[in-house]
Amino acid sequence: MTATAKTKGANAYPKVRRMRFRFGDPAPMQRHYVQDDIVLSHLLALLSSAFPPGEESFIRSVRRVSDQITDPVLKKRVAGFVGQEAMHGQQHRALNERLIEMGYLLVRIPTFPANSLRERVIVRAERLIPARLHLAGTAAAEHYTATLARRVLTSDELQAIPADPEVRKLINWHALEELEHKSVAFDVYRAVGGTERMRILLMTVPYVGAIPVVSLIVLLSILTDPTGWRPLTVTRQAIDVLRGPLVKGLTGEVAEYLRPGFHPDDIDTEDVVRQWQRELFGAEGELLDRVR
Ligand SMILES: [Fe+2]
Ligand SMILES: [Fe+2]
Repeated sequence: MTATAKTKGANAYPKVRRMRFRFGDPAPMQRHYVQDDIVLSHLLALLSSAFPPGEESFIRSVRRVSDQITDPVLKKRVAGFVGQEAMHGQQHRALNERLIEMGYLLVRIPTFPANSLRERVIVRAERLIPARLHLAGTAAAEHYTATLARRVLTSDELQAIPADPEVRKLINWHALEELEHKSVAFDVYRAVGGTERMRILLMTVPYVGAIPVVSLIVLLSILTDPTGWRPLTVTRQAIDVLRGPLVKGLTGEVAEYLRPGFHPDDIDTEDVVRQWQRELFGAEGELLDRVR
């Protein structure tokens, strides 16, 4: 599969949509905005807090090698990827501000303004890492995100969870665009000569660590939330999440990436992407009034 092999499908060129969501408007958001679910509310809050700095790092990893990209098709796909990720970061920041106001203490930790001391330290630290290694990390994270995105968009059970409607809209939009650009960082990595060995090695970290580390941070986050100090309820909800359609079998699915020769387009998401492009942005699309 070459960098330009998949240029005719629904996700040929990631489309940048300038969005503006309205969190807490008109009705204020509930503390546990995934209705009555303490665990899912904290899990989503923590993921949302990690997106802006994570996605900004993904953008920098691709930009570091942009002068080596000669294929005009890949250049155009990179522009779409950068635009989509920048918009995700911006809209998640808006949600994160609400979450901090609502008392999600751990959301503050990865939340810092552009050009702040913390950001400058991170950017400097990244520069110490070889560009291809940085990019291999991005490609692995993008595959993990795309796997979660596909689950969100194809599970009736997940779509039926009663959550704050604006948060649900944000997640569906983000998930759709993650599938639209799922192979861009991967193709950049290949185009600049990234090896299979390094690519696979970089996935072993989230493959082994993501679920236990995220579970631990969710637990810490709940401990900072006195309204969530209901051990039996939290235990039951945690078991439901781990056994439910978001997490059950996730590690096995992500493991496909560890196969030498794997390409993200080996997993066909064309139909899912088309269906959700229509549902969200078609003639009667649910999100047309959120496009600026
Ligand atoms: Fe994103
Ligand atoms: Fe992404």
